[in-house]
Formats: sequence, C-alpha cells, structure tokens
Amino acid sequence: MYSVELMVKEHENILKLIDVIRNACCEILDGAEVNVEDFEKMIQFARNYADKHHHGKEEIIFFSKMTEHLGELAEKLINHGMLVEHDLGRLHMSELETSLHQYRDNPQTIYKLGIIGGAVGYANLLTRHIDKENNAVFKFAEKNLSSEVLESIDELIKDFEKNAQEQCIQEKYLGILEELTSKYCSNK
Ligand SMILES: [Fe+2]
Ligand SMILES: [Fe+2]
Repeated sequence: MYSVELMVKEHENILKLIDVIRNACCEILDGAEVNVEDFEKMIQFARNYADKHHHGKEEIIFFSKMTEHLGELAEKLINHGMLVEHDLGRLHMSELETSLHQYRDNPQTIYKLGIIGGAVGYANLLTRHIDKENNAVFKFAEKNLSSEVLESIDELIKDFEKNAQEQCIQEKYLGILEELTSKYCSNK
C-alpha cells in the first residue's frame, strides 16, 4: 500500500534524526560544548517533519480512518496509545528546547542534563513508537480495513504530500537532516 510504504520510509528518516540526537548527546557526555544551533535544527526537524508532516498524516488521515472503521480495539490502540505517544514526544521536545535556551543564556551543567534528558527521552520514545507502527499498527490496518477505505487513505495522503511538496516541506527538512547526519553520523 502506497501510504504504508511512505510512512515506513518517513520512519527511516526520523530514525536518522534519532541517531543524530544520540550522537550529539554522546559528544556532550564526552566533554564537547553544546552546539545550540545544531540542536535548534534537530528540534525544527522533529517538529516540522516528524510531527507536523508525518504525525499530521497519521492523525488527520490514517488513524482517524482506523478509529472510524475498526471499532473499539483500534480506538484504544490509537487514542490511548499512539496519540498519547505523539503528545509525549511534543513534551520531550519542549523540555529540550527550554533547557537549550537556559543553557544558551547561562551555560551550566544542570542545563546540559536537561538537554540530554529531553533529547534521549524523545529518541527512546520514538524508537519504540516507530517499531509499534511498523510491526503492529500498520499491519493491523492493512489486514482489516476494506480495500475501499485503504484506497481513500491513499488518495488523501497523496493530496497531503502534493500540498507539502508545493511548499517544499520535504526538500527543506530532508536537507536539514542530511546536513546533520553528515556532521554527526559519518564514520560512526
Ligand atoms: Fe505515530
Ligand atoms: Fe509514524
């Protein structure tokens, strides 16, 4: 199915950000100063690509079709599982941002701890979340939704992608990701 293939591909990009985040945190633990500008870029990617662009499609299109057509089990899985985790990811990002700004204004070790806490919390959460979607949620949807509903999801997601492409969303954020991976993930 087009939509699931696209979502899995986007997960690969989000996992690349997670590698960047972990490596940047390890550098801090090894004694490097915090690169505030790079962490701002990681937050930008997490908020605009992982959340707005990717979770946007899940929440507005994919998951809402699942809760509409697949009954109580899907409602529990989505509303009390996946959506709660999306929110928790937003919380980790805002904690990271708060600590990052505190560190920028007053570079103390306690704020480095907040940066690492928020960043690693996000990385661990999203790693588990993506694994659940790839191996359970999407398979459950493909197996149980009618071909008619699956087709309507594909159409809506194609429109969403086209709209984002017109605003150069994918190009802009994948460019930021490439810059970050070449800095934090080469030779590792
Ligand atoms: Fe998700
Ligand atoms: Fe996802």
